[in-house]
Formats: sequence, structure tokens, C-alpha cells
Amino acid sequence: MRNIQYLDYREIVTDLLCTQPDLNKLDREEIYNLLEYPPDQKLGDLAFPCFKLSKILRKDPHVIAQELQESLPASPYLEAPVATGPYLNFRFVPEQLGKKVLQTILGTRERYGARSLGQGQNIVIDFSAPNIAKPFHVGHLSSTVIGNSLYKIFNFLGYNCVGINHLGDWGTQFGKLITAYKKWGSQAAVEKGLIKELMRLYVKFHEEAEKDPTLDEEAREWFNRIENGDQEALALWKWFKEISLEEFQRVYDLLEITFDSMAGESFYNDQLPAVVSELKDKNLLEESEGALIVDLEQFEMPPCLILKKDGSSLYATRDIAAALYRKRTYDFVKALYVTGIAQSLHFRQWFKVIELMGYDWAKDLIHVPFGWVNLAGEKLSTRKGKVVLLEELLQTAIQKTLEIINEKNPNLEHKEEVAREVGVGAVVFGALSVNRIKDVTFSWEEALNFDGETGPYLQYTHARACSILRKVGFKPEEHLEFEPKVLTDKAALNVIKTLYLFPEKIMAAAAEYEPSLISRYLIDLAQQFNRFYHDCPVLVEEQTLQEARLVLVYAVKTTLAVGLGLLGIKAPERM
Ligand code: ARG
Repeated sequence: MRNIQYLDYREIVTDLLCTQPDLNKLDREEIYNLLEYPPDQKLGDLAFPCFKLSKILRKDPHVIAQELQESLPASPYLEAPVATGPYLNFRFVPEQLGKKVLQTILGTRERYGARSLGQGQNIVIDFSAPNIAKPFHVGHLSSTVIGNSLYKIFNFLGYNCVGINHLGDWGTQFGKLITAYKKWGSQAAVEKGLIKELMRLYVKFHEEAEKDPTLDEEAREWFNRIENGDQEALALWKWFKEISLEEFQRVYDLLEITFDSMAGESFYNDQLPAVVSELKDKNLLEESEGALIVDLEQFEMPPCLILKKDGSSLYATRDIAAALYRKRTYDFVKALYVTGIAQSLHFRQWFKVIELMGYDWAKDLIHVPFGWVNLAGEKLSTRKGKVVLLEELLQTAIQKTLEIINEKNPNLEHKEEVAREVGVGAVVFGALSVNRIKDVTFSWEEALNFDGETGPYLQYTHARACSILRKVGFKPEEHLEFEPKVLTDKAALNVIKTLYLFPEKIMAAAAEYEPSLISRYLIDLAQQFNRFYHDCPVLVEEQTLQEARLVLVYAVKTTLAVGLGLLGIKAPERM
């Protein structure tokens, strides 16, 4: 793909500022990064704060702003700058802005905001990773949708993403499950109840083990048998895994999420001995109470456990093996791990181990944490069985959407499909609408609220724009010569300014691994657009004005669809 040059006012203003001798004290990138969008648009569209320069030059920032106002050369893209206190404020020339931005969107369409930045380099994204024999619950939703969105964002920027579902299909919980199955379960009950029955057994185990600690011992023995290749134990493990995968697949199908690799924790079993001997050769292993550890005291972290006393491996051991495998196989420039914040220490520990092993690519391992998902104020916990199953949640959302459609638009074609896209979109947007590190309290009402700042609101705004364009049979390639000058209404100009920001927002979302920057941006765009639609009739007599406003509608429709796509949400044309 050819790299598209997007209009970038920060670039333009930086160029201007760099012509000034005083500004030589800062380098170009610093100047670029100092520029900010003023909180109040009355002040201007872009501002240069003079504080930093003031320190260097030992000069009053007000004076610097004033001097710059007088000496800066003119630019066709900018009105004459105005010094306001310690800031130099710039205003975009609306006509140039409208022309450039709308023409770019007419030209790039569903690629608006795309770049060839990544040049096809690989980024590995480890996401979703539910645990076998445990239900796929709302807590996994965050990892799944954040990871999927990052996948789409980095792809859009020209990287080749490899999505890996590091399934939790190994570990002591299988010993617990087999113990519970042997004591309180039966083949018939599991075949009938599937994942729900496995969950019941898992919960039962924890209830009973509180009273009778010998159960834990028994569970450990069963897990040892799995690790040692015992036939019966392995067969049960496989069976539980198949049941779980079928259930997970139904959720992924509803979300339309796919993975490039389903290599779970067990995939690395035969690579573990090599990891242990490499650690030994590099003098990193120590014995501690019979276990093998990597001491991390000088980095102010507890030791990283590599092998337990009984020789069984750990979560971290398998993560180290997986990282080495992935580097060999994909030669990634970055590897992202999307999990709950509770695992931060785990990642910091084994990232450090990779570094100590002498791999400089340890710096490319990135943990992308997210906050807790609470249910009516209580943490979700598989052990206590307090979970909302994701599949149930999605199905309820779809059902409720269908009821709304039946009420408001009963003759809509392909209702079921639209209900699925909107119902699922509501849930996905709910999970992506706040900064990922914030805790989310899950509530049915909020996830399914179709007014307000939700996925369905964006989808509805998109469908409304589609319907206007459909009325006139709008084709973007026929309107390249539209007249941007006539778009003078405040509401229209605000929409254009917001459209201009989209490519920059995508870059910021990638840099911060933060899809919510895109979701919040889209809400802003939709609100601006609905104000425009309210203030400015589109299908007016005057042809030049009608054409320009239609181009604006098309640009908004396109940007909404691209943005929703980057979040992993569908944009139906009719609702
Ligand atoms: N299965 C884990 C969990 O549910 C998440 C795995 C994340 N990926 C990783 N490579 N550790 O907590």
C-alpha cells in the first residue's frame, strides 16, 4: 500500500515555528509534541505553550508568545496566530481544512486513517485465553475485545498481526476437576450439562476442599498423572478440553473473532526441558525449598518459580517457553499480552527473566492490562460460581435488540442479522468505552441501553447517514469536485474538525494500546454530526450546497464505519 499523507496541522505549525531562531533551542519532535488542542475552541484550534521555551530563554512566556505572534510567517492553512497569555493560538483556515479532509476521505474511503507504518512487520497479540473447563465469563470479555481491537488497529497501520489464543489448558485445576468428577460427577451428567456441569464440579471442589484439605493433595496427584502421560487422566483432560472449546467457539462465532493460532499452554509441554536447561546453563536457576527459581530480589520482585518441588511446571515456565517459541517462529517487533491487571507482577517477573537470559527483545514484550470487571459490586470469581456467562449475555442482548426492532421497524429486512450485529455491538462497545485500566461494573441495563453513549447509538447514526445517501444514490467518485467553500455553518465546521482528527486518534490508540480513544472519539463525532443534521438540512434546493453537505454526510458515514470496524463492531446500513 502506498503511504497516504494525511493533513497534519501539528506538522504545519511545527514547520512555521522552526523558522524562528529562538525555537532552535528545542528540537523538532519536542515542538511537535508540545502542541496541544485547546480545551476551549473559542481560543483556537491548536496552541503552542511557551513555558518550556521560557525556562530555556529565561524570558517571560507572555513576551515569547507576543513576539512569535509578530514574527511568524504566514501559511495558507492558518489564520494569523494570536497570543493569549503564555500561549500562541492558531486557527485553521476552514476552507482549506474542509477541502483537504473531505477530499482525502472521498479518495481513501474505507481506508481513511490507514498507514503503511508497520511495513508488514509482525506483532504478536496474545488475547482472550480463557481457561479450559471453566466458563467463558464476562471477565474474559475485556481481554477478547481489547485484543481483537488492537489486532485491527495495528493491521490498519500496516503491521502483520498474529493473534494467539493462549488457552489455559494446563495446570493444577485439571487435577481438581478430575478429582471432583470422580467423586461427584458422571459421564452422563457431563454430556448433558457440558460446561455448566464442569463448572458445578469445580465450584463443588472448592467448597469441599475448604473442609477437607486432603482433596488438594488428591488433585495434585491427578495433575501429576496428567503430566506423566497417564492414559485415563489424559483422556479426561482431552474430553474436558473439547467440551470447553465447543462452548468458546460459539462465543467467538457470535463476536466474529478468529485467531491465527490456538496454541494453548499445553502446546509448550515438550519445550519446557529446554527452557530449564537454558536457564541452568546461564546460571540463573537456584534451588529454594526443593523448587527451582530465578531470584529477582535485586529487582525488588519475588522469585520467579520455574519448577515445583514435585517437578511440575508453572504458568511462568510455560510463558517463557511460549515467548522463545514465538520469537523464533514470528520474529515479532512487539508481543502484546492482554490480561487483567492482577497479572501485572507475573508479567514483570518473567519479562525480567527473558532479559536476564540475554535477549534484547525482552523490551518488545508488553503487558496490556485492564481493570476488574465487577458484578453488582462483587468481583467475578469462578471458584464461587458467581459468573455471568458471556454467551448468555450476548444472546440476551440480541433478543432484546430484536424486540426493539419488532416494535420500531417491524418490516426491516434481515432483522435477525441486524439484531445480532447491534446486540453484540452493544456489549462489545460497553467493554471498550472506558479507559481499559478503569474498573468496569457490569450491569445489564447499561450494556443494553440503546440511547446515550453506546454502540447502538453509533450504529444508528451510521444507518441514518446511509439512508440519506441512499435517497440520492450518492457515489463518492462523482463528487470529487464539490465546493468546500459553502460549508460555512458552525455545526458543519465542527464535524470537519472532528473528521480531521481521526488518523491522529488511531495513532494515539495504537501508541497507548487504548481502543477507548477510538470509541470516545466516535461518540464525539456522532454527536457533532447529529447536531449538524439537526441544524442544516441536507437535501436543499441549492445544488452546490446540497452536494457539499452530502459529501460531509458521506465522510461521517465512512469514518463511523471505519472506526466501528477497528473496535470489532459491525456497521449495518439499515436498522
Ligand atoms: N488463561 C489466563 C487467564 O485466564 C490468561 C493467559 C494470558 N496469556 C499469557 N500468555 N499468560 O488468566
